[in-house]
Amino acid sequence: TKLDMELAAIEKGGYDHFMLKEIYEQPSTIQDCLRGRLNASAGTITMSGIDDHIDQIINANRIMIVACGTSWHAGLVAEYIIEELCRIPVEVEYASEFRYRNPIVNKGDIIIAISQSGETADTLVALEKAKENGAFIFGVVNAVGSSIARIAHAGAYTHAGHEIGVASTKAFTGQLAVLMMAALKIALKKGTINNERFQELLNELADVPEKVAAILKNADAIKAIALKYKDAKDFLFLGRGYNFPIALEGALKLKEISYIHAEGYPAAEMKHGPIALVDDQLPVVFIATKDSYHEKIVSNMQEIKARKGKIIAVITEGDTISPTMSDDVIAIPTADELIAPIISVIPLQLLSYYTGIAKGVDVDKPRNLAKSVTVE
Ligand code: G6P
Repeated sequence: TKLDMELAAIEKGGYDHFMLKEIYEQPSTIQDCLRGRLNASAGTITMSGIDDHIDQIINANRIMIVACGTSWHAGLVAEYIIEELCRIPVEVEYASEFRYRNPIVNKGDIIIAISQSGETADTLVALEKAKENGAFIFGVVNAVGSSIARIAHAGAYTHAGHEIGVASTKAFTGQLAVLMMAALKIALKKGTINNERFQELLNELADVPEKVAAILKNADAIKAIALKYKDAKDFLFLGRGYNFPIALEGALKLKEISYIHAEGYPAAEMKHGPIALVDDQLPVVFIATKDSYHEKIVSNMQEIKARKGKIIAVITEGDTISPTMSDDVIAIPTADELIAPIISVIPLQLLSYYTGIAKGVDVDKPRNLAKSVTVE
């Protein structure tokens, strides 16, 4: 009815779809996630879920991260960050694999469960088993009071608010922000980071909402790129280091809401297979922001260019080298390489959204997908 339609429009807050609304909410949802925790001027991070168990956490032999889908990608970013900052070995597992194999879980192991809904069946059962074996469960959950939040010994909510679009956006950036804060806290306590670097990353994290807002202002340029490539049959997404999981996430988002086949790969591993697909019809999205891998990824761009692939590059503002290699560029604000994933995922969310819309897909409810997978 007309009333239903009007109500739905009000819920979407003036946006055409929940997905777009949720993408645009990110400057404020990330702020909500940081609020009350990160205090850059005081140089502190407060997270009771970590503070209350700090000795156990810093003495852990290893951390295992268990999740599915987009949350699993946040886990991969966290692996790189925690190992770099905290020097604790980290493994990241698909919950569905973890629960059915016979994993080695010992008392004293820390399991970090990442879940937007807090109800994903595979993740929940994986945690039940690990808990029986004596592991300490730390939940990074969006839905307050959900099953995973309740089964965890401790945790930190992402505070992204209710996420309705099936493809996860604002919950993902909330997960990255929480995991980054947790890693920083652990590293400081463990003495694996110095005060100067800690403060530097605190300041960087505090600047994220503003940088995300700046990217959103540039959405029209990203929309134009989406329209240019919407008829492609396949897409390749490549990244290295902290941005490698963002390549996976970019490919997942595009598949989910445009039905275009897409693969995400570590940029150098591309030589061992996907390079066979490259021709003048294949768009290749590089997440090529300025970081310690930059020179390496530029040479990967050359490899694609030499085979006439179409290069769409997410680059750091001011980078003059990558544009000479690319057909299209999306420039984003400078960020420390550990913080970059929270920022570099934003253009990929928009690219998928506009591609899905151009193809007439119901982006909030793509076929065959469920927001919360409560069956195995
Ligand atoms: C489904 C959703 C994804 C989500 C995944 C894990 O596949 O469509 O967006 O990433 O489940 O969900 P969770 O709620 O555990 O993060």
